[in-house]
Amino acid sequence: MKGVILAGGLGKRLSPLTKITNKHLLPIYNKPMIYYPIETLVDAGIKDILIVTGGHHAGEFLRLLGNGHQFGLKHINYTYQEGEGGIADALKLAEHFSDGQKIVVILGDNIIEKSIKKHVVEFNNQKSGAKILLREASDPQRFGVAEIKNKKIISIQEKPEKPKSNYIVTGIYMYDSQVFNIAKRLKPSGRGELEITDVNNAYIKMGNLTYNMLDGWWSDSGTFDSLLRASNLVVEGAKKPSRK
Ligand code: DAU
Repeated sequence: MKGVILAGGLGKRLSPLTKITNKHLLPIYNKPMIYYPIETLVDAGIKDILIVTGGHHAGEFLRLLGNGHQFGLKHINYTYQEGEGGIADALKLAEHFSDGQKIVVILGDNIIEKSIKKHVVEFNNQKSGAKILLREASDPQRFGVAEIKNKKIISIQEKPEKPKSNYIVTGIYMYDSQVFNIAKRLKPSGRGELEITDVNNAYIKMGNLTYNMLDGWWSDSGTFDSLLRASNLVVEGAKKPSRK
């Protein structure tokens, strides 16, 4: 399976930090943010990786990561998202790279504690469709929120004022090649973006979305509070003997 890291967007919620660099190059404790999703994919056995970036500082990714030798990779693929049309808009750029294979997609600001290998193996054995990873959160209105009935996700709402559950959709998604046809048919949401939640709802409609619960801690890092929380979680984790 191939891996796609979405690191586009302008990171406006972290301004002024993001005036002079890309959000995903900001530090989470002792490493740039982008290192964490790369390590998550490599740990899951994914060696063929595409980074989608954008904005004014995209060249810095090359300077920092080069061909990814520090992660044991032979090379890294890069592509550039014009503007910030949303997560699903960034994902569309991965069609050529994916070449009809299944993909694991991770948002560039998602920092996690444990390995996702078992979920990736499970999805590899899933005939078709998509799989997402959920977790419980105390502030679900900040995220995509899953409504679950009889152990099935029946709908996902993006940043609902009145969440139907505490189960939020993390930024780790696994898709078959149908994802690109779905993404091409999307219309921009109220905030003017192509929403990954609409992609996942399309898979629900087709009856082909599975989920697992993500264990260990997880954080996004796109706001000042979550950036700090992610760093604190990494520091705590660094004191423990193993990251797995
Ligand atoms: O972190 C999980 C959440 O991520 C999910 O629960 C939500 O359903 C999903 O919509 C997303 O919500 P956010 O509002 O936190 O997404 P954000 O706009 O911060 O973008 C997250 C990452 O996606 C960002 O670090 C880079 C990538 N991205 C985003 C946009 C808007 C792109 O590559 N291009 C884009 O145009």
